[in-house]
Amino acid sequence: MKEVTQALLDLIAGSPSPFHAAANFAAALEAAGYRRLREESRWQLQGGGRYFVERNGSALIAFRVPEGEWQGFQLTAAHSDSPAFKLKPQGELAGPENYLRLNAEPYGGMLMATWLDRPLSVAGRAAVRTAAGVASRLVNLDRDLLVIPSVAIHMDREANRGRTWDPKTDLTPVLGLGTEKGTLRRLVAEAAAVPEEDLLGGDLFLYVRQPGTALGANEELVAGPRLDDLQCAFACFHGFLEAGQGGGAPVFCLFDNEEVGSATRQGADGTFLQETLGRICAALGREDPAELAASVMVSADNAHAVHPNHPEYADCGHRPRLNGGVVVKHSASQRYTSDAVSAALFTELCRRCGVPTQVFANRSDLPGGSTLGNISNTHVSLTTVDVGLAQLAMHSAWETAGAEDTEHLLRAARAFYEAALRPDGQGGWEIGSR
Ligand code: CO
Repeated sequence: MKEVTQALLDLIAGSPSPFHAAANFAAALEAAGYRRLREESRWQLQGGGRYFVERNGSALIAFRVPEGEWQGFQLTAAHSDSPAFKLKPQGELAGPENYLRLNAEPYGGMLMATWLDRPLSVAGRAAVRTAAGVASRLVNLDRDLLVIPSVAIHMDREANRGRTWDPKTDLTPVLGLGTEKGTLRRLVAEAAAVPEEDLLGGDLFLYVRQPGTALGANEELVAGPRLDDLQCAFACFHGFLEAGQGGGAPVFCLFDNEEVGSATRQGADGTFLQETLGRICAALGREDPAELAASVMVSADNAHAVHPNHPEYADCGHRPRLNGGVVVKHSASQRYTSDAVSAALFTELCRRCGVPTQVFANRSDLPGGSTLGNISNTHVSLTTVDVGLAQLAMHSAWETAGAEDTEHLLRAARAFYEAALRPDGQGGWEIGSR
């Protein structure tokens, strides 16, 4: 398996929840010498400084302040969350018979059937009582723990003909047999390293435990959970870390709650980015509107590859292939922010560094999904392009993408950060280097 694929799969395996994903990026930033800023503190920033700030433990913004002359921000953005099942506060159901089950509800729009008949576990964060007050702890039960069993074909002869799924009945996981209520609480308290009476609550999700893998005759595919959007997050993050200095201040954004509409404190529809960029400008004595007008954002969220068994869902002329390069997304209704100029700017940067690109538009009778770019633009209005990596089975518990595409986006992100981009005053952009 290629090194970059292994590194991506390691990140995914270590990121069973958005809280774990953000913690992993934060740890990598600290290891690379980035200083953690706190939102409630006054920021003092210096040229040559490297910083990051977290919000809610599930979203994060990292940035560097260049030394010497610079203008504008060069940003990439991806999301930390994936569709899953979230446990309700009273999370256990006793019965029927001697079953102990868990009461969970869908988080995001998943392909429900893919969660059946596979080992699942529980991860997220717990709120615990401490001597000082209330603390947040990452928890991962980290063992094959749960299963959501299908109904046998012998009992449901219609199972292969247009089955519908009711999350209330069909998607209820089994935790064990003959077990007393309170088992989950005991396991979570153990994982949080607190006595049971000090466990006050949790944001806990079911997750697929099986680690991802490379497959295909030549290992040309990467398959596993949460590729949307950890594949893009991984590629943008490493492009950010590895990039030399370009013409602007490099920024990497990881937002939470994309799968449920982004309208949270830690989502792209919150104030996190706006306030962070504003504070950077204020700390450095710069004027936000001038900096923002000279800024470019690459919003990276996975895209739909043409499907091998259902090529008819792809639009004619807009049929991304796995390993075909970074996908630039277009939508007349502006669900994707790309326009002629922002798309051309990104595509030209890719051409110059030898990274292939492809284009995506939804079939005109299919609404498609939305993503971060246009939502973030309602708060921080920047020249933005929506891109992604082609994948199959988006929002399945087990997704498939092109193994080479991770590297394509990583190289594109690095080249984007290293470029000097300057508005030409007539609707275009000059591309230079520093
Ligand atoms: Co996504």
